Amino acid sequence: MHHFVYRQGELFAEEVPVSRIAEEVGTPVYIYSAATLRRHYRVFDEAFSDLPHLVCYSVKANSNLAVLRLLAREGAGADIVSGGELFRALRAGIPPERIVFSGVGKTEREMEEALSAGILMFNVESLGELEALSRVARRLGRPAPFSIRVNPDVDPRTHPYISTGLKKNKFGLPEEVAYRAYLRAKEDPYLRPVGVDCHIGSQLTELSPFVEALRRLKGLYLRLREEGFEELRYLDLGGGLGIVYGEEEPPPPAAYAEAIKREFRDLDAVLVLEPGRVIAGNAGILVTRVLYVKTNPPSGESSEGRTFVIVDAGMNDLIRPTLYQAYHRISPVRERPGIESIRADVVGPICESGDFLARERRLPPVSPGDLLCVFSAGAYGFVMASNYNSRPRAAEVLVDGERYFVVRKREDYEDLVRLEEIPDEL
Ligand code: LLP
Repeated sequence: MHHFVYRQGELFAEEVPVSRIAEEVGTPVYIYSAATLRRHYRVFDEAFSDLPHLVCYSVKANSNLAVLRLLAREGAGADIVSGGELFRALRAGIPPERIVFSGVGKTEREMEEALSAGILMFNVESLGELEALSRVARRLGRPAPFSIRVNPDVDPRTHPYISTGLKKNKFGLPEEVAYRAYLRAKEDPYLRPVGVDCHIGSQLTELSPFVEALRRLKGLYLRLREEGFEELRYLDLGGGLGIVYGEEEPPPPAAYAEAIKREFRDLDAVLVLEPGRVIAGNAGILVTRVLYVKTNPPSGESSEGRTFVIVDAGMNDLIRPTLYQAYHRISPVRERPGIESIRADVVGPICESGDFLARERRLPPVSPGDLLCVFSAGAYGFVMASNYNSRPRAAEVLVDGERYFVVRKREDYEDLVRLEEIPDEL
């Protein structure tokens, strides 16, 4: 469910015509819907209402301060993976005691920042990291609350680049190694084991991998409790629930919650969840303008020429199609019903053949100047944007009812070179 809907052939973001934002703010532009973000958060949170739980929104999905503030107001915590994300989460008003810190490469400086801020727990991913955390805690004179991220070796059946819970992935520790790490931590007054953690991948469209991972985690949790780990309270299942981009049929949050709750019955623990995509993905679109349309002559491969719709957004703005062969629905902002479709590649201005938003896509015929909407771009969209080809990054807009706010200005040329210096000696 989202609030990007056509009315009389014209795409609206809540009560605001998308074309109006494009005219006033320019393109490419990311547009987020506040009502959709709130709704997604509430549906997810309420699905777990009868269980002690904490929803830690995964900041990496969309880390705009206004988005974080909106979610903070809803009561969200945060799952962070860097000092930068900690900075953003705190700046947006997310309480530190609702922040969990994941990631395989935390530096001691980042640990210091997070420990000083008083976060809920560190999700530790290696033995070396646990040692480092202990050193930092000793230095600050403040014991560090932590979970070990277990790699449950469960196949999430998703794209290989976004699967994380297999032995061959760099994430977490095997259960036995994790168990021994907890025992070792017991001897250390500066390490406080408060939970167990896992995250098996992203854009999962089946429930069984979650259930399997949860069973493993639960086994370890109970074993540790029996060993006398009395401070253990949190069972963090990570994020990963998939969304509809095209034809997928991911389970709705209620079904996901039901499956988890069945496993959780009788467990004396607080469930921690780290959803990202399911909150932000369909709460955002990317709007781009058609610059040119061209058809190359037929080649050896096909008797038809290939048509390219060249738009002003490229792989630097939205890299998902290039990186994961991801499908994003693309439609004109103004529908032209009844017109026969064309088959085209929607490509950006970047000097790479991999710079495409869609390939061999059926579209209504489009002309230069038309606006196109790329759907489901609210998660892993702007956050993965770069300045490649010296392209200033797009503006971000948040719509709330009849109003809209530019929540990140479009970058300009000066922004591109702000941190650079030409040495005088040159
Ligand atoms: N927790 C941890 C430890 C994670 O690594 C992630 C995502 C999440 C939570 C949130 O997962 P979600 O609920 O959003 O699926 N750039 C890729 C996705 C990478 C996900 C990385 N980790 C994409 O565009 O598909």
